[in-house]
Amino acid sequence: MSAAIIDGKAFAGALRARIATHAARFEQGAGRKAGLAVVLVGEDPASAVYVRSKGRQTVEAGMASFEHRLPADTDEATLLALIEQLNADPAVDGILVQLPLPAHLSEQTVIAAIDPDKDVDGFHTTNAGRLAVGQKGFVPCTPLGCLMLLKDQLGDLSGLEAVVIGRSNIVGKPMAALLLGESCTVTVAHSRTKNLPDVVRRADIVVAAVGRPLMVQGDWIKPGACVIDVGINRVEGPEGKPMLVGDVDYASGVQVAGAITPVPGGVGPMTIAVLLANTLTAAHARAGLPAPDLS
Ligand code: GUN
Repeated sequence: MSAAIIDGKAFAGALRARIATHAARFEQGAGRKAGLAVVLVGEDPASAVYVRSKGRQTVEAGMASFEHRLPADTDEATLLALIEQLNADPAVDGILVQLPLPAHLSEQTVIAAIDPDKDVDGFHTTNAGRLAVGQKGFVPCTPLGCLMLLKDQLGDLSGLEAVVIGRSNIVGKPMAALLLGESCTVTVAHSRTKNLPDVVRRADIVVAAVGRPLMVQGDWIKPGACVIDVGINRVEGPEGKPMLVGDVDYASGVQVAGAITPVPGGVGPMTIAVLLANTLTAAHARAGLPAPDLS
């Protein structure tokens, strides 16, 4: 039997359409567009592509996009001054500083400077804390996108065994907190986990976020499990051409899983769609309006 293919691209497109409807309503009600500021320091080519995409999709959703590009040798004081300016700017509802930053800048210090109520990435410790204790706050975009796909596929997740592979602050830890919030039994596996294939085999839900190409094999997967592949790894394909693969060996996984996300076209498109959703939610909160129902 072959798994259902979870079409994240289609899901993200439908979510963006709902966001655009609510963004237009917000503009009518508030007399201004919801606004997202994106800060890019340096010239990292992959980051530049993401930032362009974020700007384009923000405008397509009927929101205002403010892009700030700073040279790679920008000092911390200059970057912190820009963040202060964006914190104080009434037209800016969300602030995203594209990571990774150049090595001489402290990501921790920079993220800590963002107003938590404009932290649409959900990276500020205030928002991480809110998520950990089950309070409302901004949730990092990629794990929230994964949760939306899981709930769309499975409905109620309560009581299911979930294994998250990877313990990053951006994906693994918030993903585990979200699944716990859905009353899953959650295991976080990582590079030191013993007998990883056996740990994965007990999962009804597998979220792979380790950045190791094709690591999770089909015979690690419990038949019928729902597999969410967060990995986006550039590898050399046939005839030396670069290609993208996930952390899951899709060819074998698709034979065993009940449902699986492809790479590309699975989790990837969800991240920016959720960023726009978080920005619109921030705009409503700042304008004293109830949160839009984007479901
Ligand atoms: N770099 C790669 N993904 C992300 C993201 O979701 N947010 C930020 N700020 N930087 C990133």
